[in-house]
Amino acid sequence: MKKVHIKSYGCQMNVYDGQRMADVLGQQGYVETATPDDADLILLNTCHIRERAAHKVYTELGKLRDLKRERKAQGRETTLVVAGCVAQAEGAEIQRRQPAVDLVIGPQTYHRLPELLALAKGGRVVDTELPPEDKFGHLPAPKPAVIVARGISAFVTVQEGCDKFCAFCVVPYTRGAEFSRPVTQVIAEVERLAEAGVQDVSLLGQNVNAYHGEGPDGGVWTLARLMRRIAEVPDITRIRYTTSHPRDMDEELIAAHRDLPQVMPFLHLPVQAGSDRILAAMNRKHTGDEYRRLIDRIREARPDIALSSDFIVGFPGESDADFEETLRLIADVRFASAYSFKYSPRPGTPAAELAGQVPLAVMDERLHRLQGLVEEHRQDFNHAMVGRTVEILIERTGRHPGQLAGKTPYMQAVQIESTTHRIGDRIMVEIERAGSNSLFGRAVERPELAA
Ligand code: SAH
Ligand code: SF4
Ligand code: F3S
Repeated sequence: MKKVHIKSYGCQMNVYDGQRMADVLGQQGYVETATPDDADLILLNTCHIRERAAHKVYTELGKLRDLKRERKAQGRETTLVVAGCVAQAEGAEIQRRQPAVDLVIGPQTYHRLPELLALAKGGRVVDTELPPEDKFGHLPAPKPAVIVARGISAFVTVQEGCDKFCAFCVVPYTRGAEFSRPVTQVIAEVERLAEAGVQDVSLLGQNVNAYHGEGPDGGVWTLARLMRRIAEVPDITRIRYTTSHPRDMDEELIAAHRDLPQVMPFLHLPVQAGSDRILAAMNRKHTGDEYRRLIDRIREARPDIALSSDFIVGFPGESDADFEETLRLIADVRFASAYSFKYSPRPGTPAAELAGQVPLAVMDERLHRLQGLVEEHRQDFNHAMVGRTVEILIERTGRHPGQLAGKTPYMQAVQIESTTHRIGDRIMVEIERAGSNSLFGRAVERPELAA
């Protein structure tokens, strides 16, 4: 039996893509293996978002070249594939820097993987085309057993690519223009997942709330409409979507948080910075106050919603005063969690050419302060759960025997002790304690008291 090892870096879409590539290769007789050591095919599914992420690929490839050589000496062939956003951005350059790579394949041609692998037997191959056909229409569905093995929570890409062109970001270049999958295709995929036991779906897109897919009625469907339809799929109990852009949060989508019980009270809505000057330079096309007002409207519809965001510190030209504006925005909104990054100049993006690049030491200090503030809010949010009874979806067994792990509707990890419950159960849990990364609670016997 042939074995493939897939290692995904970067965002959730890469995790999803990795699974879909495993499905394609499954049809070719490959089974997945968790380590590169016994794999005939090793595939790095890469991320180009920051310099460090892109750099990691070459370090990893160096190690894999050695592995490939050792094996060759033993008479065994190893095929090395680089997929994902570094593949798209750097193409043939990858094989120039690391000749051991057999195939470089961009995110839009994964359905051609078998054909390209066959071609690579005859010599190195690069394919970073952005073909006109819809790759999703050509990707095979996973087998039920594979879905079950992946767990009760699943990702479903519904939208890919981005037309926003934030000045710092490579995604519009690595993923291409915005594309929405047709509704019937998405529904078929969700139904298949649900039939194999999936309850919790995260709809993915670089700009997922810009979704505008072709509906079964021939009209254009919004994300809110798509979610209303997904909520009708039997056994889908939880729906989330990520990542959204503030400018695409329309009334219909906000209302979905109020009206659809399956839509979780959690929203990742990156703002990046708080200063209007920096937001304009980033080409975000919204101000700090517009973001605050949007948050107010979302909280009106769903008062208990947990918000999360992404931040960049040290965008070119960011002054101390600009940075203070970011802290002020964070203090106003109080996010339940957030990701934050030091600005990393990316080749080909407009911001990389800007004057006023911020020194590393300044970025370090700002990041430290920002993360301290976000962490305070995160801890407050988690501690406020203590004493409350909330619905937990049990996702897996916990670290210790008798322990089960699940999530609150707000995406918080929860551990409970129980021998009577199982993965996939939705149970009411009284939160007793908040640790630094996880909540701890006990199952409540009479859920009717929970409200
Ligand atoms: N809308 C996208 C965002 C992708 S990038 C999505 O679907 O997730 C994720 C985050 O990385 C961005 O929100 C931004 O905060 C950060 N990021 C992007 N480019 C960056 C850069 N050049 N330097 C530092 N952080 C960056
Ligand atoms: Fe990048 Fe901006 Fe598009 Fe997000 S919205 S993927 S940050 S260009
Ligand atoms: Fe990275 Fe590409 Fe995702 S650059 S964050 S893997 S879209």
